[in-house]
Amino acid sequence: MPDFREAAIPGHKAAYDQYGWCELPCRFTDKAVGLLRERVNAISRERRPEVVLEKNSDVVRGLHGCHVFDDVCAALVRHPRLVALAEELVGGQVYVYQFKVNLKQAHEGAEWPWHQDYAFWGEEDGMPRPDAVNVAIPLDDVHEGNGPLVAIPGSHRLGLLDLPAQAAARSDWQRHVSADLAYTVSEQRAEELARRLGRVTFTARAGAVHAFHPSIVHSSSGNTSPDRRALLLITYNAIDNAPANPTRPEFLVSRETTPLVARADDRLEVESHLPPQAAQAMGSRS
Ligand code: SIN
Ligand code: MN
Repeated sequence: MPDFREAAIPGHKAAYDQYGWCELPCRFTDKAVGLLRERVNAISRERRPEVVLEKNSDVVRGLHGCHVFDDVCAALVRHPRLVALAEELVGGQVYVYQFKVNLKQAHEGAEWPWHQDYAFWGEEDGMPRPDAVNVAIPLDDVHEGNGPLVAIPGSHRLGLLDLPAQAAARSDWQRHVSADLAYTVSEQRAEELARRLGRVTFTARAGAVHAFHPSIVHSSSGNTSPDRRALLLITYNAIDNAPANPTRPEFLVSRETTPLVARADDRLEVESHLPPQAAQAMGSRS
């Protein structure tokens, strides 16, 4: 089994290319996370198309496109560390393709079956290539019990799996944001891959920053714990990789493809989460 721990080494594009994920050596401060949480909680109380509920329930499952209407979320997507990470991993200028917060409420948040994001973006939106990256920031501490994201390292290099059987069925966008996903990788296929390639579980302190590839096979289980698990996800896409004629709602596929300009915001500070010596050796940036 490969040793994919090196994907946690910062700025390691080669490891990201090989394993399909990496982690920044810093986290957003408690103050920054607190502010993001406040905004997320306030938006969750609104009833608008961007707020998606769990099936047959009034429990909020996810929030979409908040960077368009909330100033803190707008500042977050322009954060210099995040833009630099996305540009490094995608290999050029980027824009925000998608922004969401998957809330996975205590005891009630439902699972995300095994899937590859690029199946949705390629099939439904016509994204030309998987030249995009997901940046994931938990707004709550993530542990084994509240439904952490689990990914199969290296699976992004296998292309889209199990797609031919499902591609004919163009689907309603609700099946792109619910536990009843339109494009999945079968349990059997995923388990067989995980036995061969291993699996990485993104348990993390709130404010941590992981990046993962659009084609990596990933899933997460339902939340069986008393702790909410809010996971904020920003998908940055290469500016020359915008779909030509997307039809899904704008809060799932941004039509604004102007390159992002990084801008620091005092409200969103990051701090190193490495031991001081390691941080020093790497040079501390913020
Ligand atoms: C999750 O929120 O656990 C799943 C996120 C995703 O599939 O992108
Ligand atoms: Mn996904």
